Amino acid sequence: MSLDMYAEEILDHYRNPKNFGKLDKPDVKVRELNPLCGDQYEFQVKVSDGKITDVKFNGDGCAISTASASILSEFIKGKKISELKKMEQKDLLNLLGIEVSPARIKCAMLAFNIVKKVVEESGKKK
Ligand code: FES
Repeated sequence: MSLDMYAEEILDHYRNPKNFGKLDKPDVKVRELNPLCGDQYEFQVKVSDGKITDVKFNGDGCAISTASASILSEFIKGKKISELKKMEQKDLLNLLGIEVSPARIKCAMLAFNIVKKVVEESGKKK
């Protein structure tokens, strides 16, 4: 995919975020805020047999943070918690597929940090 196509995909996630909304009785929920801009998201997941079986997120943010949340929500759905524990910052940047400037890294990392906490909490569930 060309860089333009990646940028187009980011915009598409921003305009039509995947898994946006709320779950009925989530097993784990984590909300976090970027204190620099006030953008915030909450991730909610259902956990079963060591896997994230369902995920929704809600909140408000810029294009990069929304796209990052949307892409991560798709990525973690159906995955094993043990696998997700190994997820690193560079994996998200690969998923985003665009060059994120140092000034926007915090935007991309907002959802990543939430998902890391969700995974940690989910690991404590049966
Ligand atoms: Fe707030 Fe991007 S400007 S997360």
